[in-house]
Amino acid sequence: MYGQAVVQSHTVSVECHKEKLRDDSILPFSAFLTDNFGRRHSYLRISLTEKCNLRCQYCMPDEGVKLTPRSQLLSTAEVLTLARLFVREGVEKIRLTGGEPLIKPDVLDVIKELKKLEGLKTIAVTTNGMNLARLLPKLKDAGLDLINISLDSLVPAKFEFIVRRKGFHKVMEGIEKAIEMGFNPVKVNCVVMRGLNEDELLDFVALTEKKPLDVRFIEYMPFDGNKWNFRKMVSYQEMLDLIRQQWPDLERLETGGTTAKTFKVPGFKGQMGFITSMSEHFCGSCNRLRITADGNLKVCLFGNSEVSLRDVLRSGASDEELLQIIGAAVGNKKKQHAGMFNISKMKNRPMIHIGG
Ligand SMILES: C[S@@+](CC[C@H](N)C(=O)[O-])C[C@H]1O[C@@H](n2cnc3c(N)ncnc32)[C@H](O)[C@@H]1O
Ligand code: SF4
Repeated sequence: MYGQAVVQSHTVSVECHKEKLRDDSILPFSAFLTDNFGRRHSYLRISLTEKCNLRCQYCMPDEGVKLTPRSQLLSTAEVLTLARLFVREGVEKIRLTGGEPLIKPDVLDVIKELKKLEGLKTIAVTTNGMNLARLLPKLKDAGLDLINISLDSLVPAKFEFIVRRKGFHKVMEGIEKAIEMGFNPVKVNCVVMRGLNEDELLDFVALTEKKPLDVRFIEYMPFDGNKWNFRKMVSYQEMLDLIRQQWPDLERLETGGTTAKTFKVPGFKGQMGFITSMSEHFCGSCNRLRITADGNLKVCLFGNSEVSLRDVLRSGASDEELLQIIGAAVGNKKKQHAGMFNISKMKNRPMIHIGG
C-alpha cells in the first residue's frame, strides 16, 4: 500500500530518514510524505490552471503574468496520475485551485475521477465564485465535498476595484446557492488589507449572524508582483481586537484544524477563522503540499524550492522513482518559513502561478 521499494537515493540524509521509517514494524504514514520533522502531508493542493477571469490586486501583478505554454502544463491525465499516487501514499484531502479552477473545461471530469480514489476523503475547491452558481449542481453531482469562495468586499464598487473586474453579484449568488444546496460549511476567504477592506471586518462578521458561513480572514501575504508591505497587512491580533470591541463575548472554538484560529459570536449561525500565516505561522502543523499547473511540487507556499514532477513523469519514470523524488523534496522541507520580512524580499512566484 505505501511505497516500499528502495531506489537510488537523491539525498543521503533524507534517504537515511526514510530507511529508518521503513524499518519500523508499523508504518503509520507514508515515509515519502513525512518530512524530517515528522509532519505527515495528507493534504494536497493542485492548481488546475494559471488562467483567471479576475485580476485581484493581491494575487495578480499589475502587468499580468506570462502564461506557461500549454504543452508545459500538466495534462488532465497527468494530474490524475499524480493524484492517484499521492492518495495511494496517504493523501486524504485534495483541493483544486488555480488560477480559477472553475474555468478549466474538464473540472467536473477531474472531480469525478478523483471521487473514485479509495482513501481520498475530501475533494475541495477554492474559487472566486464567478461561475459558481451555474456549476454548483454539477459540481455536487460530480462529488465535490467542500467549497471556499473568495470575497474581499461587500461593497460592489470596492469589490470591483480589488479584483479589477465586475462580478460582485455573481459571487454573492454563488455563495447563496452553495448555502441553499447544503454545502456545509461554506467558507468565504477574505484577504484583509489596510486601506482597502479592513473597515468591512465587522460587516463580514455580521454576515455570520443569519448565514451558516465560515468567514476566513486571511492575513495579506507577500508574493512576487503584489506590492506587499508590512503597513498594508492587518494582523490577526488587530482584527481580533476590533471584532471584540463589537462582540466582547466572542468565543474561541477548538476545531482541531491545523490552520485557522476559529471563533464564533454566541448565537450566530456561522463562525469565523483567521489564517495567520504572517503574524503567527502554523508551520509546525503544516500538512500541505502543492502541485503547480506546470507540474512543480512545492512543499512550502513561501519557499522557492520546487521540483518538476512533470519532467519526471514525462521521462517515463516508474511510480517508485517518482516517489523517491517526492520523498526527497518533502524530506527537505524547512521547519518553518523565513518570516514575513524575509519572505517579502525572496524570489517566489506570483500567487496566481502557485495556487493558494
Ligand atoms: C490564488 S486563489 C485561487 C483560487 C480562486 N481563483 C480564488 O480566488 O479563490 C486562492 C486563494 O488565495 C488567496 N490569496 C491570493 N493572494 C493572496 C495574498 N497575497 N495573500 C493572502 N491570500 C491570497 C485568495 O484570496 C484565494 O482565497
Ligand atoms: S485570487 Fe483567485 S480570483 Fe483573484 S486573481 Fe488570483 S486566482 Fe484569480
